[in-house]
Amino acid sequence: MKNVIVGDKSGFCFGVKRAVDLVIKCQQEKGKRIYTLGPLIHNNDVINYLKERDIYPIEIHELDRLNAEDVVVIRSHGVSLEILEKLKKMGLEVIDATCPYVGSIQKRVEEYFNRGYNIIIVGDKNHPEVQGINGWCENSALVAKDETDISSSISKKVCVVSQTTEKEKNWQNVLNSIIKYSKEIVAFNTICSATEVRQKCAEELSKKVDAMIVIGGRHSSNTTKLYEICIKNCHNTIHIEKAEEIPTEILENEDIVNVGITAGASTPDWIIEAVINKIK
Ligand code: F3S
Repeated sequence: MKNVIVGDKSGFCFGVKRAVDLVIKCQQEKGKRIYTLGPLIHNNDVINYLKERDIYPIEIHELDRLNAEDVVVIRSHGVSLEILEKLKKMGLEVIDATCPYVGSIQKRVEEYFNRGYNIIIVGDKNHPEVQGINGWCENSALVAKDETDISSSISKKVCVVSQTTEKEKNWQNVLNSIIKYSKEIVAFNTICSATEVRQKCAEELSKKVDAMIVIGGRHSSNTTKLYEICIKNCHNTIHIEKAEEIPTEILENEDIVNVGITAGASTPDWIIEAVINKIK
């Protein structure tokens, strides 16, 4: 019999879990098809699981297919003010599952933009969260991927925020460059600690167990990072996507008693539970 210990903060972060729970609850209450604006999460298992429950992703350019009174859920990334208003104008019922942390960035950006500050967002201009935030200052923000995007041409009065998944080092580098050129700077470090906390919990757990199982997509960078952290402390660390992939060497090895589990940000609870059951 093996002892299974699941690392704190494994799997979905607070904002994604909240959005998934909200959309499922909403479908159960309404008893009809629910649409999410874009995939709720980049995990095919989750998307198929939601489709089985009559919850379908729809893209912005497909909105014309919907009828008034259809229900659309805004995912944790949030959207621009313009899209929010468009959905409401179409008569759609809008359920806002924007992560509260992202929502508070949008509100700050709106407030400081209205007070005459030029907005700088440290992040990836193609990321939906960044595009959504930019939509709260009339798409006027300078989106800086790193310090090379900052030059003497930036405004003298700026409000700086970051994408929630930005790296701390990059945030600091960009800020250091802004300081050279701007006179009045309001900076909000809006990096979310969810990823860092998950990594710290996995690191601690991997020091105490005989084997460590990291669950998550093969191409998921945050899952790969978890694997790299864990293998430094526990040489019996494996990376799997689902329960069927657990090697028999781990299941049948009697020297392996305590098994730790951690999971990347897009791994749902039901995959984690299937892994626990298989080991037990
Ligand atoms: Fe998740 Fe919200 Fe942080 S979506 S990563 S808890 S900003």
